[in-house]
Amino acid sequence: MIITVTPNPALDLTYAVPAIALGESHRVTSVTERAGGKGLNVASVLTSMGSGAVAVAPVGELDLDLFRRDLDARRVPHRLVPSPCPTRRSVAVVEAGGRATLFNEAGVPESKRVWDRLCEEIAALAPEASVLTVSGSFPTGADTELARRVTLLAHESGLRVVLDISGPHLTRALAAGPDLVKPNRVEAAVSLSSLGRGDVPSVPQAARALVAAGARSAVVSDGTNGLVLVHDSLGHDVALRARLPRPLSGNPTGAGDALTASLAADLEAGGDLPSGRDVWAAALRRGVAWSAAAVLQPVAGAVDPADVARLLPTVEIEEIPL
Ligand SMILES: Nc1ncnc2c1ncn2[C@@H]1O[C@H](COP(=O)(O)OP(=O)(O)OP(=O)(O)O)[C@@H](O)[C@H]1O
Ligand SMILES: [Mg+2]
Repeated sequence: MIITVTPNPALDLTYAVPAIALGESHRVTSVTERAGGKGLNVASVLTSMGSGAVAVAPVGELDLDLFRRDLDARRVPHRLVPSPCPTRRSVAVVEAGGRATLFNEAGVPESKRVWDRLCEEIAALAPEASVLTVSGSFPTGADTELARRVTLLAHESGLRVVLDISGPHLTRALAAGPDLVKPNRVEAAVSLSSLGRGDVPSVPQAARALVAAGARSAVVSDGTNGLVLVHDSLGHDVALRARLPRPLSGNPTGAGDALTASLAADLEAGGDLPSGRDVWAAALRRGVAWSAAAVLQPVAGAVDPADVARLLPTVEIEEIPL
């Protein structure tokens, strides 16, 4: 089983309007509400693919019922930790022509008490689990020790750890030796600059630098260009690029979460990181196929296994000189 942690979930509100006129007031023609957050997407993708996952997140007391009902309807198992802080809102205003304008609140940092409860939930689930993921942002001003704390707790409980986080939260956690980190290209560059790297690294350089800073392996995703993996373990130095021959058009939001889900599922199946070029190549092939399949879905957190099966043989893998 895979535990997926979302430090900063959001209630995703979608307002439909005929068209936006700046400075004017608008009548909203329909509103939809959905439990949102990157770790929830990871759990949802794992559920679509038939893997066991449990989503763990702090959720404001007033929004708990909505989150529980929505996740139940999507058959995503969850352990939500009630919080006195209101859950942030992410508002998408969608015009009749399909253009979406987004407003994302930053979120309110949770108290130490809520994080203690979250860690208790993780410890309670750990005997049934083998992998833990942490995904997405933290509220502005949140303690930068939190991801490191969760990584250490998960390792003590015998879990492998996958981090899809960025900035100081990622760089603090690197020292705890997460098994795999998966920032996208921009997140990797921002995180490395907070480590004092002034230059903008290439994607392979960024993956290598994340491993040099403490991650056992790094997958840096690069949107339509696929991804780069670096894993330096004694005797098994692997650096690979994986991508589709042609990008797909669709909805790329949540593609990275599908990639995280795929990599976590591989860690669970193998009991540890892949070792050697061929096992990594197979894992990256699945990662690219799952994430590309997510692009074909209108909402984040879904993949169709038939799309994954169709895309899998088309993924191209290339060795990068170390
Ligand atoms: N247009 C596309 N066509 C095919 N595959 C794509 C496309 N966009 C993204 N992908 C796949 O999804 C992976 C993750 O994409 P990306 O780097 O954009 O993640 P991300 O920024 O973390 O996304 P998010 O945080 O919204 O989930 C890429 O490595 C690639 O395999
Ligand atoms: Mg992402």
